[in-house]
Amino acid sequence: MGGAARLSAPQALVLWAALGAAAHIGPAPDPEDWWSYKENLQGNFVPDELSISQDQHGRSCLVQSICVPTGPPFWGLVNAAWSLCAVGKRQSPVDVELKRVLYDPFLPPLRLSTGGEKLRGTLYNTGRHVSFLPAPRPVVNVSGGPLLYSHRLSELRLLFGARDGAGSEHQINHQGFSAEVQLIHFNQELYGNLSAASRGPNGLAILSLFVNVAGSSNPFLSRLLNRDTITRISYKNDAYFLQDLSLELLFPESFGFITYQGSLSTPPCSETVTWILIDRTLNVTSLQIFQSLSGNGRPLQPLAHRALRGNRDPRHPERRCRGPNYRLHVDGGPHGR
Ligand SMILES: *[C@@H]1O[C@H](CO)[C@@H](O)[C@H](O)[C@H]1NC(C)=O
Ligand SMILES: *[C@@H]1O[C@H](CO)[C@@H](O)[C@H](O)[C@H]1NC(C)=O
Ligand SMILES: *[C@@H]1O[C@H](CO)[C@@H](O)[C@H](O)[C@H]1NC(C)=O
Repeated sequence: MGGAARLSAPQALVLWAALGAAAHIGPAPDPEDWWSYKENLQGNFVPDELSISQDQHGRSCLVQSICVPTGPPFWGLVNAAWSLCAVGKRQSPVDVELKRVLYDPFLPPLRLSTGGEKLRGTLYNTGRHVSFLPAPRPVVNVSGGPLLYSHRLSELRLLFGARDGAGSEHQINHQGFSAEVQLIHFNQELYGNLSAASRGPNGLAILSLFVNVAGSSNPFLSRLLNRDTITRISYKNDAYFLQDLSLELLFPESFGFITYQGSLSTPPCSETVTWILIDRTLNVTSLQIFQSLSGNGRPLQPLAHRALRGNRDPRHPERRCRGPNYRLHVDGGPHGR
């Protein structure tokens, strides 16, 4: 963390020069793909364009002698459009210290709208993540909580680690989880699409749910992530269509949330994200099938002076289990199961 900021000016120049030179050689890799989660680019979850060769310092080499590191500390240097990854002051993910969370009794409950329709879409191996991309219809909508606008679901992304307990990007009280499910939404009242929203204020909302390996399995995640579906998306760009999904089944029956202002945790690291972290964990019976792939995720970023707000009163923790504020409201009414 912060490694990029410590690069000296001459070092940074060498990086730029190397990239400039690389751009003129052979089939140019898409600059949008010039990032990775590891210096050491190996394993299934590697964009083809980057898996070229390694030098003795573990950097990626386009051709011999033109090597650039592409891991998280370098995201802000490999592409001028991603400079916030290096110099931003409101970056994500962060470690949430619960004693720093301010109780905000005026936070309304979270609302989910699908217009009463079942969700369908494509489970997709992007080379870096397992993502579910919803079909254009029905529109899935989230509002409420800290959100002033209605935000449209654009991707459900799964982050996982190489072992249990170490797969989430965010941490709570210095504790990681086995996986993190991120529901990525853009502000559909102000912007026409995700990329426009990621460049504007109040652009994005990401809901995070944390996952542990335990005896039972969340019904939504088991539809998405069973052995049958996963074997169909073993390789980069593999896709598998799923339908009849009930997104509300992803959420715990009752939960509180913690919210803060942060960034995309992937390039371009735009600082337009309202993060909403759900405070009850989900269970899955196993993540082994992912752990055989390499893990993914950005290292923690400093919270600095940002506020963490929560809708759960630390003096009355039992209240979070009751009352409509601690339930997901689906299509208007509180969600009962
Ligand atoms: C999206 O959310 C807004 C505000 O909550 C609502 O009025 C609208 O009907 C929703 N759209 C869909 C397609 O669900
Ligand atoms: C996103 O919206 C912007 C501005 O409205 C537009 O210029 C751009 O082409 C759109 N991008 C995509 C991928 O649709
Ligand atoms: C997850 O598993 C733990 C341990 O088995 C259990 O205590 C907890 O209630 C489960 N959570 C859910 C949401 O099922």
